[in-house]
Amino acid sequence: MFRISSTGVRNVARYLRFHWQLTTSTLTDYRTYARSAWANPRNNSHANRLGQLSVYAHALEKGLSHADLRMPFGHLPMANMLTVLRKHLVAGQVEDERVGLAIATGQSVVEEHARHGVQLPGHAQELQDILNRTLDSKQPGPVATVGARVESGDRAAIHSEEFATFVRSRHSVRNFSSATVDPASISEAVATAVHSPSSCNRQPWKVHVASEPTSIRKLLELQGGLRGWDQPGKLLVVAADSAMYGNPYERVAPYVDGGLFAMTLVLALHAEGMATCMLNANQPPSVLSEVHTLLGMDPSELIVCYIALGYPKDSFRVPVSARVPVSSVIRGESHAGFTEAVHRTAPRGTESSRGPVPRVPPGESS
Ligand SMILES: Cc1cc2nc3c(=O)[nH]c(=O)nc-3n(C[C@H](O)[C@H](O)[C@H](O)COP(=O)(O)O)c2cc1C
Repeated sequence: MFRISSTGVRNVARYLRFHWQLTTSTLTDYRTYARSAWANPRNNSHANRLGQLSVYAHALEKGLSHADLRMPFGHLPMANMLTVLRKHLVAGQVEDERVGLAIATGQSVVEEHARHGVQLPGHAQELQDILNRTLDSKQPGPVATVGARVESGDRAAIHSEEFATFVRSRHSVRNFSSATVDPASISEAVATAVHSPSSCNRQPWKVHVASEPTSIRKLLELQGGLRGWDQPGKLLVVAADSAMYGNPYERVAPYVDGGLFAMTLVLALHAEGMATCMLNANQPPSVLSEVHTLLGMDPSELIVCYIALGYPKDSFRVPVSARVPVSSVIRGESHAGFTEAVHRTAPRGTESSRGPVPRVPPGESS
């Protein structure tokens, strides 16, 4: 007689659950991106236009940074930028910082052409009109902050050894003291983190700060990864706005850009003397939607990760979280030449910037 083992039944159930979860979460991602991205002609949000302006302004500033400028340049991004600016002017939304920066970049391009005595083809006059109108209504900041600048190729002043020591002194801390985090310190760290790179300088990041103990408890309950540890004084939710992106091949770019930002932010918070633990946002769509509602987030914002934030206890323990050797990371046709680097990057001990970090021996960590 045909019999099905209990392991077989369990495997079928696991198979079905896996495919159900993968399908529903993928469809949710699809729906969010389709409703947010600006390449979909049905979308025309304020954030869409800001994303487009960032991309076109970035193309222009890249053009400006060529050592040997090929005049005239920037016709297409300039024309695209004008199309978006016209919509902004209709919507009366010229007051946004990003609009100001895009306009100032356009102005730099117009001025650069004038300096070379070259007539910008096509829409230069219209851009100039828009510039005049918007610059009259709001100064977008000194033009020197946009466009291009010359940097020294001399890297001697950069202390890479100190950087390596600093990066290695950061650990995910789960033992928080009751000391209050000063909002100014968070602002300071965010001011550093916005220097993270992002595709076409889109800067899609948002940081939602939860400070109320009840909100933090609720969010941590939904997240689940800090169970059994101290509740931090703040919980940051790092998000990236998918409305700043366009074509379907960019659909994971918000997570890439947001992840780079989150890493810099964590390092900047560490530099401010704070303790952090990144927490994943690998949650079912229904839970992510609950977080959106709790924090009043825009549906186009994708949650990249959470950051538990506070000050460390005087003495605290962290898991060893051993790292794989560099030799297993670097891949290429030849490994010759990397050997020395492997030796040089051997673990440097466990000193943190606040003194030695007591480490939990393998097996004791949670
Ligand atoms: C995206 C992301 C999600 C994480 N999620 C959790 C989590 O849910 N709970 C937790 O205790 N640690 C979490 N961590 C911390 C990792 O466990 C930790 O970074 C890793 O073990 C390396 O240790 P270190 O941060 O001390 O160097 C997360 C880290 C990242 C980057």
